[in-house]
Amino acid sequence: MQATTFKVRVDAVRDEAPGIRSFRIARLDGQPFGAYTPGAHIDVTAPSGITRQYSLCGDPERVDTQLFAVKNEPESRGGSRSLHDDVAVGSELTVGAPRNLFQLAPDARRHVLIGAGIGITPLLSMAYRLVRLDVPFELHYFARSEAHAAFLPLLTQEPFARHVRVHFGVVADELDASLATCLANASAGTHLYTCGPAPFMDRVVAAGEACVPADAIHLERFAAEPAAPGEAEAALESFDVRIATTGQTVKVAKGTSIVDAFAAIGIEIDTSCGEGVCGTCMIGVIEGEPEHRDHCLSKAERASNKVICCCVSRSRSPLLVLDL
Ligand code: FES
Repeated sequence: MQATTFKVRVDAVRDEAPGIRSFRIARLDGQPFGAYTPGAHIDVTAPSGITRQYSLCGDPERVDTQLFAVKNEPESRGGSRSLHDDVAVGSELTVGAPRNLFQLAPDARRHVLIGAGIGITPLLSMAYRLVRLDVPFELHYFARSEAHAAFLPLLTQEPFARHVRVHFGVVADELDASLATCLANASAGTHLYTCGPAPFMDRVVAAGEACVPADAIHLERFAAEPAAPGEAEAALESFDVRIATTGQTVKVAKGTSIVDAFAAIGIEIDTSCGEGVCGTCMIGVIEGEPEHRDHCLSKAERASNKVICCCVSRSRSPLLVLDL
């Protein structure tokens, strides 16, 4: 089941870089979308029927249209390919309401945004807000070359240019040194945000952990990755899940998700990606110890064990009581 959706028309399509195309959309009913918080993403259902998550990358204050960008991933399940191949100006799509798992920290004194490739998109919406708030920030953008850098003309003009540093053609061996430069001015109160390919973000996080507390590092992943070695063994093969308000209890068997187990007794949990990356199926945990298999909770959320992504995560305790 998907949460609130809107029928939209594509108003503009633009090639931002090789393989990266942006889509500007407006609601078919002519109503405004409403403002969203920077870093938010939406579900977009491609003509192929596949729904994927894409960051909003326009000005969050703009309510008449929304902008998202898609990297064509020919090896993927086909959502991005369909958006590239089957969508043109005038096409109609279904999109979800914005959700945000990658928010700007309101108490930060300084923000450092580090993105690579298509990972620039959520950082762009953050940059709009930070410029408006007039708070100190830097945006570091890593791309293979100038030609491969999406949104470069926008980023290299004011009001962004004074905050943006571009890093072209940095090879793996040089990345740590470049990241150290990006973080040279990090101090107490600095928050770090990163989005891009997983290995890139891993390096950013490692560099960041040497400069700022772990809870000041924020990242967004848009592709599920395999569980870490040993993770799978830590979870119980089967466990019970109880609904706190009704006491209904259902067994989650091996190979079945919490979402599937609830569906079998007629209880639907909202889902979208089904891969632990979007956060749609996130539910509060009142009792028990989840085995987190998602890629969207923060370290602090994982450590608290107060929330679980029901599409992929399991349990280390025989019973989980969920806030339902
Ligand atoms: S449905 Fe996306 S995280 Fe569970």
